[in-house]
Amino acid sequence: MYSVFVTRALPGDTIRRISKDLQVTVYPKDRNITKDELLTYVKDADAIISMLSDPIDADVLAAGKNLKVVANYAVGFNNIDVAAATARGIAVVNTPGVLTEATADLAWALLLAVSRRVLEGDAMTRAGKFRGWAPELLLGVPVYGQTLGIVGAGRIGRAVARRARGFGMRILYHNRSRLAAEVEQELGMAYASLDELLAESDFVSLHCPLTPETHHLIGAAELSKMKPTAVLINTARGPVVDEQALLTALRNKQIFGAGLDVYEREPMLTPGLADLPNVILTPHIGTGDVRTRVAMVDMVVDDVIAVLENRRPRHIVNPEVWERRNTDA
Ligand code: GLV
Ligand code: GLV
Repeated sequence: MYSVFVTRALPGDTIRRISKDLQVTVYPKDRNITKDELLTYVKDADAIISMLSDPIDADVLAAGKNLKVVANYAVGFNNIDVAAATARGIAVVNTPGVLTEATADLAWALLLAVSRRVLEGDAMTRAGKFRGWAPELLLGVPVYGQTLGIVGAGRIGRAVARRARGFGMRILYHNRSRLAAEVEQELGMAYASLDELLAESDFVSLHCPLTPETHHLIGAAELSKMKPTAVLINTARGPVVDEQALLTALRNKQIFGAGLDVYEREPMLTPGLADLPNVILTPHIGTGDVRTRVAMVDMVVDDVIAVLENRRPRHIVNPEVWERRNTDA
């Protein structure tokens, strides 16, 4: 019987169901697993279902002598040393697609809440400080008809753009590679250099993966190119933004505000960030609606079973492993 290690309890009953045919171990604590614990648990595992907070590095992969697949319960896989996995013939799978709409919804929740100062308004009202309608009470920045800049035009970036149409927005995008003209037209998005996008957008929303190229993509220089009325949204990965530089920009009102779901040193925040009124901070819940989080379980489980049964997984990050395995066979 194959052995599957799940690094955190997951929603739904899929994990319980597969326990009939697989030897499943679920990390028992309600917190992120540490690297030392991972090194121990991975020893006998044929498969791991990992969280985006787990460091699946070369040491962990080396300790997993029987490991055939690492299934990341996330679309982003910057927590995994994919090159090391590939070198060991370990398949890495993830959950693209199912979580696209949920993440786009949260980006919009932040965009709207920051622009219209929803949390400040809630805090004021609860505190009994709402003393009646007033013409200049908590004025925000407009959303309808403004310019949205999407950085990273993958599935999620495009889903955010699709929603922007209902808000009558002009949509700019920046991406590693430019999309085909038909795709641009269909999505109603115009390509811009990062500098143009920063200068012209009222909202800048980040949807790129975290890679060496996107680390600190938005730093002091980039923030200084944004409009003083602009809002930055990050539902991608924390280190894409230089959090200290963002703190300074928000403190000096160099931009209007920010909505963050991810942090540079998650779950820690740059000191001072939580004291600012012009930033909304959510705890990495981009994919967090019930339907999505359950669908993500089914997706990782299907691909784990596929690998263990020697079938090609549907969402493989390092297809070379699969191709090599089948040529060698
Ligand atoms: C969430 O951040 C994910 O990558 O799925
Ligand atoms: C993730 O699904 C992306 O391509 O943006």
